[in-house]
Amino acid sequence: MREQLLIIGAGGHGRVIADIALKMNTWKTIAFLDNDKLIQSSMGLEVVGKSDDMLAFIDDWDIFVGIGNNALRERIQSKLEVAGAHITTLIHPRAVIGEQVELGVGTAVMAGVVINCCTKVGKGCIINTGATIDHDSLIENYVHVSPGVHMAGTVNIGAGAWLGIGSIVSNNVNITSNCIIGAGAVVVRDIVDAGTYMGVPARRVY
Ligand SMILES: CC(C)(COP(=O)(O)OP(=O)(O)OC[C@H]1O[C@@H](n2cnc3c(N)ncnc32)[C@H](O)[C@@H]1OP(=O)(O)O)[C@@H](O)C(=O)NCCC(=O)NCCS
Repeated sequence: MREQLLIIGAGGHGRVIADIALKMNTWKTIAFLDNDKLIQSSMGLEVVGKSDDMLAFIDDWDIFVGIGNNALRERIQSKLEVAGAHITTLIHPRAVIGEQVELGVGTAVMAGVVINCCTKVGKGCIINTGATIDHDSLIENYVHVSPGVHMAGTVNIGAGAWLGIGSIVSNNVNITSNCIIGAGAVVVRDIVDAGTYMGVPARRVY
């Protein structure tokens, strides 16, 4: 653990990430990188350079990728990993994490989240505000679980999937990689083909 944390991306998602980091009270300095030259500070924290120059910072800073888009977050985190950056995991102090839960590096767990026992969450995931993930589930790398999603027990979510706000996944259901689940959808059967699914019960639309 270093004394300073650098968040890549000073947009809306990056600011929520900074808020978690501030509440963790772990780093003396927290700052952003962003490619938009017009943003010089965000949430009172300094933007110290461009995201494109991130590798120049990896010797002295813990790093976190604060970008909401799954594919872009994966691309940036993968580059950082190859370069040997120290990527951290962020957990809001008001999240409830069960016993024998594993969380990968670069994963953010936001306020009000509950992750029940024996669940594994991969790297680079976003477990957004107030989401719940029940026992014995597997969330693969670079998944975004949006605010207010509820997943019952023994659910598997494939890499790169995006579960929209307020969606529900019933118990023992598997969702394949790179799926989009629309806001408010209810997934009651396995999804084996990547695509966009909406409605109750969720059906493929694209
Ligand atoms: C599923 C989703 C990705 C589709 O986006 P899109 O491809 O741009 O779809 P559009 O907005 O063009 O809508 C296409 C049609 O689907 C309908 N639709 C869109 N989202 C829907 C949803 N979640 N449930 C049911 N119908 C939906 C629209 O009303 C529209 O219907 P119409 O053709 O009869 O007018 C998006 O609507 C969604 O649900 N996103 C989740 C947002 C979210 O969770 N944000 C949280 C970020 S932290």
